[in-house]
Amino acid sequence: ATLNAAAASSKTFNDYQAIYNDIAEKVRENDEYDGGAGYFGILTRLAWHSSGTYDASKGSGGSFGGNMVFAPEQYDGANAGLAPARDFLSEFQYKYPWISRGDLWTLGGVVAVQEAGGPKIPWRPGRVNATDGKKGAPNTLPDASRDGKYVKGLFGRMGFNEQETVALIGAHCLGKCHKNASGYEGPWGPSFNMFTNDFFNYLLKDWQVKQWDGPKQYEDVETKLFMMLPTDIALKEENYFLKWVKIYADDEKKFFSDFSKAFAKLLELGIQFPSSVKPFEFKTLDEQE
Ligand code: HEM
Repeated sequence: ATLNAAAASSKTFNDYQAIYNDIAEKVRENDEYDGGAGYFGILTRLAWHSSGTYDASKGSGGSFGGNMVFAPEQYDGANAGLAPARDFLSEFQYKYPWISRGDLWTLGGVVAVQEAGGPKIPWRPGRVNATDGKKGAPNTLPDASRDGKYVKGLFGRMGFNEQETVALIGAHCLGKCHKNASGYEGPWGPSFNMFTNDFFNYLLKDWQVKQWDGPKQYEDVETKLFMMLPTDIALKEENYFLKWVKIYADDEKKFFSDFSKAFAKLLELGIQFPSSVKPFEFKTLDEQE
């Protein structure tokens, strides 16, 4: 059951670029948030979690309805820690009452990736607010304690192949884990407010299981300052993933281009856009100065 996006009525590219700019300015003003990570990581994660509930075989889930404000998705453990991201964006919901939650949350992810220096993400509007949580799809987001076969199966459910899966998880260059949200703790690398291929460069270093009272996670042998989740390490354990980890570590351009396509696809899972709605490519704040 693909959902039909509303044809963007009177709203133009400039209307959306204005919201993009407002979000981007606020991200800039809050660059000290979360120990210097800023809002890049958490906004990217909100966009991903609002979309990654999709099940291609059932046509359920996805970013269309903005279901995370209602039970059951609201109480999905995987979404713990995302309230600050929704709160951050809510002022734009008041300023631009015509934009839907699904459009605002996915646009927030586009802003985060682009303003952190990542690739351009083509984006289309037209998601429509759900009025209750009946179409919510809880327990569909990945469990970080699992192995590579699980990751392959879970992203396969959304319609992604191994290459797209590895590219998407490269977003772990941004932001960090929070003990009080997921139970895991720490950033994946030092440049956690910049979109780079560093996740792959770090992943290829040596990692060991961290001795602590939290869930099983890894620390880098060299400095012990950075972390990997079991599902991150799993990308090194299966050849069908490792191949892409190496390619993206060697070639940031290739990573950017593949990430852009896969992330744009993620944000649109389960949505049919009218052919009249062409993807927008927003300018960064830097490009407008
Ligand atoms: C953070 C798991 C895939 C983007 C996290 C956290 C966990 C996690 C446990 C920490 C949350 C917290 O404590 O605040 C996973 C698993 C994945 C996966 C198990 C797949 C196997 C992805 C994908 C994206 C993504 C596909 C985006 C395309 C992020 C970002 C953060 C994050 C940017 C940092 C959030 C922040 O700074 O607050 N992820 N993730 N993740 N994830 Fe993932």
